[in-house]
Amino acid sequence: MDERVTSGPEVIHSIEGVDIKQRPARGPRMDPINLVPYLPRAKWSTGPGDQGWHAMLCQVLEESQKHTRRKSLLKVRVMDWITSTAILPLLLGCVGIFSLFKLLQQMRVKAYLRNAVVVITGATSGLGRECAKVFYAAGAKLVLCGRNREALEELTKELAASQATKVQTHKPYTVTFDLAEPGAIVAATAEILQCFGYVDVLINNAGISYRGAIVDTTADVDKRVMETNYFGPVALTKALLPSMIKRRQGHVVAISSIQGKISIPFRSAYAASKHATQAFFDCLRAEVEQYEVEVTVISPGYIHTSLSVNAITADGSTYGVMDETTAQGRSPVEVARDVLAAVGKKKKDVILADLLPSLAVYLRTLAPGLFFSLMASRARKERKSKNS
Ligand SMILES: NC(=O)c1ccc[n+]([C@@H]2O[C@H](COP(=O)([O-])OP(=O)(O)OC[C@H]3O[C@@H](n4cnc5c(N)ncnc54)[C@H](OP(=O)(O)O)[C@@H]3O)[C@@H](O)[C@H]2O)c1
Repeated sequence: MDERVTSGPEVIHSIEGVDIKQRPARGPRMDPINLVPYLPRAKWSTGPGDQGWHAMLCQVLEESQKHTRRKSLLKVRVMDWITSTAILPLLLGCVGIFSLFKLLQQMRVKAYLRNAVVVITGATSGLGRECAKVFYAAGAKLVLCGRNREALEELTKELAASQATKVQTHKPYTVTFDLAEPGAIVAATAEILQCFGYVDVLINNAGISYRGAIVDTTADVDKRVMETNYFGPVALTKALLPSMIKRRQGHVVAISSIQGKISIPFRSAYAASKHATQAFFDCLRAEVEQYEVEVTVISPGYIHTSLSVNAITADGSTYGVMDETTAQGRSPVEVARDVLAAVGKKKKDVILADLLPSLAVYLRTLAPGLFFSLMASRARKERKSKNS
């Protein structure tokens, strides 16, 4: 190293006659990288080696410039490496594989549902009606079930008039029966099987909701909700199961609810029926796996349908109110598409809800004390707003 540089620091008071202890007046900004041209020739007020100090400053600045250039060069090299060598092709490869996977999945879903015999209960309104539309458009052979024959006929005409699909569609059959009437299910099953000779997918969608305090609710109301939401779907599933097992092919879908996983106050009968649904179909899944029969339980959050309007109250009368939560719920069209995707992908258990209700499911398991307090507070608020 230069001897003059190592000769030790000396106090610099001025450069070219300017007192450097004073702040310089603001001038045009210097290039922060290339400072050497701006470096004045120093006139040192004391000591020897004035030229050496100037040279040393130049050297220091040059070194710093070199360092900055080296860093920029390194950045450029890293970017080059990312874009030209490993990362970019790797990223593109991942995106490609993901897209290919999605495409294959879509093809599989389409192939699974094209020409499949799909039975949908509660097809006269809400989610069932939208499911009918998306499964029809996917090329499924539909058997539409409900209590209202006219509404089913109207839906059939609407489907026939729709041309929004490239896939070959099939004229749906309709079967009218009341799920809450145990005697009606045997006859309905025979009728359903007559339509196409077999059933590939049974979608247990029909359901009824309930609003009321447990203390005021009659046993008949509890039974009615359980008949529609639990005993009816269970009986229909059991009636169609032997033919699925025999063919070693079939898929049973239960449209449950997020209330099949968590219980909300003043919905006791409904939540109980959906908890029972979840439990029954979880057992079924395990029992029929060996026969290659699939079971999917779908638990939606609020959907914008007439469910709350059609709900029954503690005394059995119709509630008749579109709840704010239901009105703000997801569109049934969207949920129907999600149902189709879940069935096509043979999903086992699906929650179709917003973040908050989905988190509540985990809260119920991980922090039950907190969940119970929140529900008690909700019950207090609801009771207060009812009384006011
Ligand atoms: N909407 C929501 O916020 C929500 C949230 C989670 C889960 N779900 C579930 O989604 C499913 C569909 O409900 P939705 O929202 O579409 O309500 P919706 O518009 O009221 O539709 C209910 C359907 O079930 C049928 N049904 C009711 N009782 C029946 C019975 N005894 N026998 C035969 N069919 C009967 C109704 O037929 P009729 O026309 O003859 O009455 C109607 O087609 C239900 O299982 C419900 O629990 C809904």
